[in-house]
Amino acid sequence: MHSVFRGRHFIDLEDFNKEEVDTMLEVSLDLKKKFAMGVPTPYLQYQTMFMMFFEQSTRTRNSMEAGLAQLGGHAGFLDSSSMQIAHGESAKDTAIILSRFGHAIACRYCNWQIGNQYLTEMAKWSTVPIMNLQCDLYHPFQALADLMTMKEKIGDLKRVKVSIIWAYAESHKKPISVPVSQVLLFPRYGMDVTLAHPKGWELPDWVIAKARASAERYGGSVTVTDNEEEAYRDAHIVIPKNWGNWVTDQTGAKLSGASVVIDEKLMAQRSWKCTESKMALANKNVMYMHALPADRNHEVEDSVIDGPHSIVYDEAENRLHTAKAVMTLLMGGR
Ligand code: CP
Repeated sequence: MHSVFRGRHFIDLEDFNKEEVDTMLEVSLDLKKKFAMGVPTPYLQYQTMFMMFFEQSTRTRNSMEAGLAQLGGHAGFLDSSSMQIAHGESAKDTAIILSRFGHAIACRYCNWQIGNQYLTEMAKWSTVPIMNLQCDLYHPFQALADLMTMKEKIGDLKRVKVSIIWAYAESHKKPISVPVSQVLLFPRYGMDVTLAHPKGWELPDWVIAKARASAERYGGSVTVTDNEEEAYRDAHIVIPKNWGNWVTDQTGAKLSGASVVIDEKLMAQRSWKCTESKMALANKNVMYMHALPADRNHEVEDSVIDGPHSIVYDEAENRLHTAKAVMTLLMGGR
């Protein structure tokens, strides 16, 4: 078990080896049990974290904010549009100043080819951990919560078929960071990962190459297909979720609710929706997951997301426990 985390940044789960990710999961489970029993966990008393948001959030913001309060500290919400960033203050100056005021800085910034660079620049100058609340490339907190949920439900994930499936949506332009983080993480647990999407919604080649290298090392597989049926067939877990075309939809686009997202190219893919009939192709105990928010009746039928195979609320709850584990390890510990 690895135990040296204090002061490290949390930008990408690839920065942590498998034993370290296992430690995060163990600490998450311990904190979840203590939360259920009402046992106090004041591991970060009097510590302060600054949470900068360039985009909207429900789960991420509140899991961090509630999580740090439950650990005895305080997480301050900062809307980037009301910070001096809006007048051009640099990532460097922002990181140095906030480092001097508190114990960690967390940031969500999903703009394509900007978000990850911004976080990396802050990490270069910050003297406290930088935590990635989702960028254009990665959403490590989501992937960790997904992994925890799958392990709780199934146990050993070796050779378990998990299908990450593109789904049609109209709600807002979504970054590729959720499927990228999932495709990179799940093969490290020996899972059989199927990535399915229509032509035009590919993930970057380097992501697939990295995922395949992990599959080879840990004894799983990575299949990429544009055949939706193949992804559902015999799957133990399905994760149908929309993402934008990372080249044409996201270059220079503000990934906010105000963006225009519907065009003919997208509408041609309306059939990529998770339905009961597609779920019937999967293993009889298949589980339906989604990072949320879901675009109901576009990405998924209500009867699936509200049905007996859905574990979306357990998945969302685990955002709290994994957030607390990461903060405890990086901000506290030894
Ligand atoms: N899954 C997720 O990150 O949710 P929010 O956008 O609400 O934070």
